[in-house]
Amino acid sequence: MNKNTLIVVGSGIKFMSHLTIESKACIEKSDKVLYLVNEPAMQSWIEQANKSAESLDFLYTKHKARHDNYLLIAEYIFDNLKKYETLCVVMYGHPTVFAQPALYATNMAIQNGYNAVIMPGISSEDCLYADLRIDPGSCGCQSFEATDFIIYRRVYDSSSHLILWQSSVIGVLNQPGYHDPLNGLAILVEYLSEKYSLDHEIVVYEAAQYPGFKPKIDKVLLRALAQTKIGRIATLYVPPNKQPIPDLVMLEKIKKIT
Ligand SMILES: C[S@@+](CC[C@H](N)C(=O)[O-])C[C@H]1O[C@@H](n2cnc3c(N)ncnc32)[C@H](O)[C@@H]1O
Repeated sequence: MNKNTLIVVGSGIKFMSHLTIESKACIEKSDKVLYLVNEPAMQSWIEQANKSAESLDFLYTKHKARHDNYLLIAEYIFDNLKKYETLCVVMYGHPTVFAQPALYATNMAIQNGYNAVIMPGISSEDCLYADLRIDPGSCGCQSFEATDFIIYRRVYDSSSHLILWQSSVIGVLNQPGYHDPLNGLAILVEYLSEKYSLDHEIVVYEAAQYPGFKPKIDKVLLRALAQTKIGRIATLYVPPNKQPIPDLVMLEKIKKIT
């Protein structure tokens, strides 16, 4: 067992307000801090909180393919783990929710006999539940990366909540360059229209990133989604369009045990 420890923390979505006491202490006390956050205030707080702090941004655009950069970041984290007794990696939101590099690095660390721990953070999905007043337990909730959702024709149940991430970059596998998000949204509309009416209301959601600010909650009809400019940080929420039908055989089985 190697004695060095990797601590992966999430900074949450709203500047400072979502940072847990535990994560804050790890950032302040670790021998080395690496970070990948998406807004400048958090970046400067981390830089001040720990003088060793280093942004991972320079690796984010190194290769053309996004996935190659994720691996590069994971390897960079792992190389640093060999050098520092405590290495803290900060990702925004929850550190392993739609954030592959930290998860890759954690697995690498564990496979190589290092200590590694992941501390949860408040993700944009958590903010969405609060701002849209949704309980994922009420009828189930499915959450997909938008490109993955389309490419694999993910099977989903339209009687449950549906959350689609990264809908502004559908089909964008490379870094960064110009692309028109509306092209991807048109394909998404086509796929969603197999289960929802074109008059079904979709929410384009952006959680507030700063205290005192309100979230952006824009309701658009499915038919209009492909003409809607959605921000890079937006997540789509598709409400259920029907009631589920119980399976009578299962219902009978459940009745017998209660
Ligand atoms: C690379 S993922 C990072 C997610 C982050 N780790 C989290 O826990 O929320 C980026 C995606 O997260 C979602 N996202 C990030 N910030 C958001 C915000 N402020 N409001 C709504 N969704 C957000 C969007 O779907 C965006 O495309």
